[in-house]
Parts: sequence; C-alpha cells; structure tokens
Amino acid sequence: MIKIDVKVGAASKQRDDAVVLPLLEGRKLTESGKKLQQATDNVLPDFLRKFDISGDFGKSRTLYGVKDVKDIFTQRIMLIGAGGERKLTLHGLRRLAATAARKLDKSGARDVSFYLPELNVRGANLPDKVQAVAEGIWLGLYAFDKYQTEKKENKRALRSVTIMISSHRDIESAEGALDKARAISTGTNFARDLANEPGNVCTPEFLGEQAAALKHKKMKVTVMNKAAIEKAGFTALLAVNQGSAKEPRFIVLEYQNGKKGAPSVALVGKGLTFDAGGISIKPAAQMDEMKFDMCGSAAVLGIFKAVIAMNLQVNLLGVIVSTENLLGSMAYKPGDIVTSYKGLTIEVQNTDAEGRIILSDALAYAAEQKPAEIIDFATLTGACVIALGSQATGLLGTGEKVKKGLKTSGDHTHDRVWELPLFEEYQDQIKSKIADIKNIGGREAGTITAACFLSRFVDDIPWAHLDIAGTAWNMKGTDISPSGATGVGVRLVVDYLSRR
Ligand code: BES
Ligand code: MN
Ligand code: ZN
Repeated sequence: MIKIDVKVGAASKQRDDAVVLPLLEGRKLTESGKKLQQATDNVLPDFLRKFDISGDFGKSRTLYGVKDVKDIFTQRIMLIGAGGERKLTLHGLRRLAATAARKLDKSGARDVSFYLPELNVRGANLPDKVQAVAEGIWLGLYAFDKYQTEKKENKRALRSVTIMISSHRDIESAEGALDKARAISTGTNFARDLANEPGNVCTPEFLGEQAAALKHKKMKVTVMNKAAIEKAGFTALLAVNQGSAKEPRFIVLEYQNGKKGAPSVALVGKGLTFDAGGISIKPAAQMDEMKFDMCGSAAVLGIFKAVIAMNLQVNLLGVIVSTENLLGSMAYKPGDIVTSYKGLTIEVQNTDAEGRIILSDALAYAAEQKPAEIIDFATLTGACVIALGSQATGLLGTGEKVKKGLKTSGDHTHDRVWELPLFEEYQDQIKSKIADIKNIGGREAGTITAACFLSRFVDDIPWAHLDIAGTAWNMKGTDISPSGATGVGVRLVVDYLSRR
C-alpha cells in the first residue's frame, strides 16, 4: 500500500505532482480552491466558466501546465466533482478518493495532495472524513496482478498521497484516523488477496499456513490437520471432505487483549476453497467463481489482521473450517446421513448445500467455548444473491444486540447488511423423515432455511449470521474494489468491535 500522510498547507504552495481540489455542484470551489484563486490571480477562471466541468459527483478534469502560472508550484490541478454537499456521505468521500487515486495512478503523477476532508459531510467529524479518504485510496488502488507475467510495469505509479486538512489542531486526531484506516485497509486487502488466489494455490492447507502466520504475542493459532480433526470428532467437516484428495483444516485463533477472563466474541468462517457442488454437481458456467467460496474465512483472517494492527482491546475467538467440495470416488452422496460433532444427525439431500454442514461443526465448537456472542461469515446461498444482489449482506440470527450493532456499523462503514427473519415456522422446512434435520429446505426462502439449519448448532449463545454470497466478490468491480474479491465484512466487523 502506498504512503499516506496528513498535513496542513495552502494548495498554491504544494510542490507535488498534483493537487486534488473538490468542486461542488454549480462549479463551486471549496475553501482551499477559493484561497488558491486569491493567491494566483484566478488561475482557474476560464476553466470554471467554460462549462468544461459540472461539479457532478465523480466527474473530474485535470489541468496541466499550471506550473507556469505565477505563484503556483504544482504540475497539475485535478478538480473532482463532489456533487451537492448536502447529499455527500462518508462513503461518497471514500469513492471520490478512490476515483482520484486511480486516475492519478495512470496519469504519471507520483506524489499528490488531496483537499477532500474540507468537504462537509453531515454527522461526520474530521477524523471520520480522513479515515474514509484514506480507505478510499488504499482500497481503490488494490490490484491482484501477480499472475500477469507480461503486464507492463507502471514506472510512474502513484507513490504518495498527502491528505490536507485545514488546522494544525487536528493533526493528531487525523493521524489516529489514518492509522485506523491503514489497519482496516490492510485487513481488507489481505482478505482480498487470499480470496483472489486460485483454488489450486489457496487450498485448506494454504489457509492454515496463512492463519498460522498471524501468530502474535497476544494470539495463539491452532491448525488441525486431518488426523487432528478425526481425533477431535469434526465429522460433518470430514463428510464433505471425502470427495477431495486434499486434507481439510480446522483452524482456531485465540486473541487475548481484553479483560482477563472476559468471554470472547467468536468469529466463524466458511472456508470452501473450491465448491464444485459435489455429487450434486453445479453447472459449468461461472463455476470458476466457486474459488471464492472461502471468502467467509478470508473475512475472519482479515479482521484478525486489522484487530492486531489496531491493538484493539478485545478477546476474540476465530474458528475456520476449510475443505474442497469435490466428486472423488469417496465423496459423500445424496441420501447419506452424517452425524455431526454436536451429535445431531443430518440427512444429506443435496451435496451442494455443504457450507451449512461444515459450519455445523465450527458453530458447535465455538458455542462450546461459551463466547459472549458468535458472528459467522459464509458465502452460503445463491438465494441470498437473488434476494439482495450485491448491495447488502444478508443478516439473520438470534442475537438482537449483535444484529443491531452490525446494522449500525454497516450503515457507518457502507459495508451494509440487511436482516431477513428467522421465524420459528421456517424450521419446518428442514425437518427430515429419517434424521434430525436435512440439509436443504426446498425452493422457498433458501437463505432463511440455511440459517435455520445453522441455528441448531449455536445453543443459546447470541448469534448473528452474515450471508455474504452476493457481496463477497464482484466481477464488475465496485467504486472501491477492482473485479474479484471485495474483502466484505472487514470494515463492518472491525467497526462493530471498536464500538462494542
Ligand atoms: N457456495 C454456494 C452458495 C453460492 C452460490 C454462493 C452462488 C455464491 C454464489 C453454496 O454452497 C451452495 O451451493 N448453495 C446451494 C444450496 C442449495 C443446494 C440448497 C445454492 O444456493 O444453490
Ligand atoms: Mn455448494
Ligand atoms: Zn458453497
């Protein structure tokens, strides 16, 4: 990630490669732009009059050759439309920063300064704004190009950004915000990196190694191999693993930096490193995207990475279950009955509903540790993609307080969630005639019946389930993420843990 600093200083005095100034609806400059005009005998007047730029959100214009103008030292001025100030949100700032950073990265500018925090955002203070701008830059510049051996190297890639603020009094709080943004962006980009790796590289073993590498004086990491999993009795995980030649992994992370002995927050992640559907095989189209079926575990690891960097004063328990879902000759089959770690028996009606099966062992194990609450992350159902698309993560569960907290954090971070009901009546859909429960609940309410299944394994621990099937990756890319894994859940839950 590139270097970002905060500083105070006039736009006309900056000597770097570009100065980025916001332009509001109606081509209105903000504070620094106005001062620049005064200091330079109106370096911008023609341009502002000519209707070459509107001030519309996200539209930008770069002026070159401004260095020849008296009393100005930068090579370029980028005016970026911020739209109507009353409509501006923190996520708007994040998007603007990402857009400007990406454009400059391609323009040849190396060291630049951004005058974005002087925009007013309703309900946001300066540190919030600095954090959003920094996140936009770091998340927006993310690229996963390690396998493009013939890509042309960008010798003039963006190297540093200075986020400009207006008062020296705010430097300290702005630097704190920058540190927070750095931790969150590092965690998010780490989650993206893990998930973007292809399935032949990112295997259960690889996830175990990545988790083990997070070891820290405040964190213990235990990675169980197949023999250890057999010994511990994670039989549901083993059933799904039967069709794969690769060993499964059961990973436990214990971070202790809160009150001694205080119960942890448990984070549980689905780590299907490739989901072919098993014997109930998936159609070929877009099956490659099922390498992303481990995004739940990537979110958990990304959150731990950010929490460690921030030195958050919490106790966290992480549980990751990882395997492939393939069709080897030993594969589990429709009709099989699997006895889970908790003892509940599961009738397998569709081997493609494997996520809930392996999560049953992870959730039961997490509940046994008596955490204060459990949050799980899973690319669990195609039905969730149909219901909510890519704009919101599905939220279900029994923990009213944790769900409420996640909604608040979702709105604040724009890593948004939307709740679906978990009415008792839906449980009927997963009744089995021959075992305790079956693993599919019919065509109706697929996201809810999947959550009903999970609910059987969390005892009475307050629990929130995040179905990230629609939000974990985006092949079109978003304003702050290129095509591929988005790192969903990291901003959300780091914010939740910081407020808790
Ligand atoms: N990993 C998939 C869910 C998924 C599908 C995520 C598409 C993102 C995009 C999960 O294991 C699965 O296959 N679920 C089935 C369940 C069904 C058989 C009840 C599904 O949603 O089709
Ligand atoms: Mn599946
Ligand atoms: Zn799956």
